[in-house]
Amino acid sequence: MMEPENGHRAHGFSSAFFLDSDEIIMELDLKGSETVMDAGCGDGHNAIKILEDYNHEGIVYAVDVYDASIEDMETYKRDNNVENLINIEADITEGIPGVDGESVDVILMVNVFHGFKASRKLDEAVDELARIIKKDGKIAIMDYKAWDVPKGPPTQYRSSPDDLENLFNSHGLKKIYLNEDIGEDIPQGKSHFLIMFAKD
Ligand SMILES: C[S@@+](CC[C@H](N)C(=O)[O-])C[C@H]1O[C@@H](n2cnc3c(N)ncnc32)[C@H](O)[C@@H]1O
Repeated sequence: MMEPENGHRAHGFSSAFFLDSDEIIMELDLKGSETVMDAGCGDGHNAIKILEDYNHEGIVYAVDVYDASIEDMETYKRDNNVENLINIEADITEGIPGVDGESVDVILMVNVFHGFKASRKLDEAVDELARIIKKDGKIAIMDYKAWDVPKGPPTQYRSSPDDLENLFNSHGLKKIYLNEDIGEDIPQGKSHFLIMFAKD
């Protein structure tokens, strides 16, 4: 596995190598004082970018099931004296401890969601996202298009935006935004889509 650019350990391929963090975070239209969660943060490069460049007054949660990723985020927090970063080791499909219901303004998940399809835990994951998101908050899912191309997860674990819309609709969430022109340039076009959901 390639070592993430920031040296933090990640259980998976860090998108720092091939996705533009700013392109993704700009989609969130942050005002600077929100409670934002990088869910499945991996090496934490998006969480750190949000903290350092976009959300000075707010709170950032970095959540991952991989203990080493969270240890490295704790080291970053300590070394840089960052008070508004909360790192949580948790399996999203089993619930994120310490996060109250309807307390998060923005949830970002980059290259994480296909894993729930692989583990057949889609409903459990969406239930937890629906629990913690505020009434006027938004959940942004960015993932690989459901194309049969070599880079990225196996085709059977990919979802289309329509698949995700049906899934989130069944949990009381509605689509508020879709960008299908984002990510890496590959021969077939842009590699990813970013879709956002909010409470109905
Ligand atoms: C491909 S990496 C992407 C990391 C990061 N979002 C990025 O864009 O570089 C997927 C990450 O999701 C985490 N993950 C997978 N399933 C999870 C779950 N059920 N709960 C929390 N984190 C999970 C993995 O540990 C890994 O760090």
